[in-house]
Amino acid sequence: MLWGEVNLKMDLACNCKYQMFFGRNLNSITCKGLALIVIALFLRVVLLPSFSGYGGIDKKNLDLVHSRSLSLDSDNGIRKDKFLEVPQIVWGLNNQKIAFARACLTARMLNRTLLMPSLRASLFYKEIDRLQPISFDKVFQFERFNSFCNGFVQLGSYSDLRNQTGVYELQKGSGRKWTVERDLDQLKQLSKDPFDGYEVIRIVGKNPFLWHDHWPVKDYARVFECLVLVDEIAREADRVVSKIREVGKEMSSRIGSAQSDFSPDSSLLEPVPYVAVHMRIEIDWMVHCKKLERKLNVSEICSSKREIMERVGNIVGLKGPTVIYLAVADSLLEDSSVLTGWKEGLLPVEKNKLGVDGIYKKYPYLIQSAIDYEVCSKADVFVGNSFSTFSSLVALERTQKMIRMGVTSSCGADVRWPSYAYNILGESNGPHKWMTNMSDSSLKAISYGSNIITC
Ligand SMILES: *[C@@H]1O[C@H](CO)[C@@H](O)[C@H](O)[C@H]1NC(C)=O
Ligand SMILES: *[C@@H]1O[C@H](CO)[C@@H](O)[C@H](O)[C@H]1NC(C)=O
Ligand SMILES: *[C@@H]1O[C@H](CO)[C@@H](O)[C@H](O)[C@H]1NC(C)=O
Ligand SMILES: *[C@@H]1O[C@H](CO)[C@@H](O)[C@H](O)[C@H]1NC(C)=O
Repeated sequence: MLWGEVNLKMDLACNCKYQMFFGRNLNSITCKGLALIVIALFLRVVLLPSFSGYGGIDKKNLDLVHSRSLSLDSDNGIRKDKFLEVPQIVWGLNNQKIAFARACLTARMLNRTLLMPSLRASLFYKEIDRLQPISFDKVFQFERFNSFCNGFVQLGSYSDLRNQTGVYELQKGSGRKWTVERDLDQLKQLSKDPFDGYEVIRIVGKNPFLWHDHWPVKDYARVFECLVLVDEIAREADRVVSKIREVGKEMSSRIGSAQSDFSPDSSLLEPVPYVAVHMRIEIDWMVHCKKLERKLNVSEICSSKREIMERVGNIVGLKGPTVIYLAVADSLLEDSSVLTGWKEGLLPVEKNKLGVDGIYKKYPYLIQSAIDYEVCSKADVFVGNSFSTFSSLVALERTQKMIRMGVTSSCGADVRWPSYAYNILGESNGPHKWMTNMSDSSLKAISYGSNIITC
């Protein structure tokens, strides 16, 4: 029905964030169990002499070995008695993720543990009542983060502080005079005495991590990989995904009964594929992207509803019947015209039509985006706008997934997890294939939007 059917089966069986020896993702309880057995056997064979017996292999050791296998690049730990403290991290989900990763990488540069920062649950101009900070570990798993990122970056909690050598407060600059070089120089100074002696370096200033960065894309990617949603939110995302697949299954069995060449048994075993489209056509975006087009003198940023529908319909290899999940701003949920005009065989759905709006409504903005992000990351095909941070981070995560599966270029042949940018014209009048350039020297290119999308 769609491409990548062989890979699809494998992915169904194994699809979680453990990727140790298998070089691919594993998800279900069975997978985890299997993974633990494999680790245990591995430990028994390779490492048993160094443990005091089988009882020595507790959860902590397993985590240690597990994370070691994830971070072969660094054997050295980060100091656990020196800390970096940063202000609350704000703005949208993906800007918060980027700012968080920057804080982590700054701490890494200073060889310090990052004190777990708080996030912002909402965009300030929307939900005034939800301005309060939300702790990092209410959204992402704290222990998991440290175990996945062990040796690379570490998070600590305020209760780890000994309060003996005091706090050094560092004012980060801002504005046009605050250049990349200045920022880096300042950080280098901090690695030296007397600053290095302080137990805590506290960064103060307005959104210091939305300013300059000094790290390559792959370092960011390494931090993002360690971010695993807490179970409650992950479950909500899974509910949305199953609902989408359910709609797809109903649709294909309806069509299947009318078509003689359809084999219904295969659809019972495989998850029904879906396409996710991050459709940015709301008024705020249109105003922003038109301005950007003028500023950058390019015409490839804003895509109209019509253009998006047309290009998605022209994706090579995409044959109906297929469900299209539309990740759209809430303001568009009232606009039924986003659901009409799609090519025959494509069935567009959004939160309301799926009947999952209740799941989203329980949560503030940040969590709602985190759920949508998961739904887009897990889609069989993702189509987004290369000038959107949300789309760019989804494309980055999917690129990482492909690389872990051994794919080095998604640009040519049929691959699992293809991503496309609808704002750039690709082959056969479809959207352009999109893969993140993992050897880029800075995240700036993708976080501030770009029409350079590698393929
Ligand atoms: C951090 O400092 C410790 C102790 O000085 C050292 O062993 C380790 O290699 C350093 N780690 C990094 C990432 O610089
Ligand atoms: C150090 O100070 C922090 C914040 O004031 C407090 O939460 C923590 O318990 C203190 N730790 C020790 C060991 O006194
Ligand atoms: C904008 O781009 C077009 C074509 O790409 C070029 O002809 C034009 O000179 C550019 N305008 C400015 C102000 O750079
Ligand atoms: C990826 O980025 C690197 C560093 O900026 C650059 O040299 C390389 O040409 C880029 N690769 C592609 C395929 O764009």
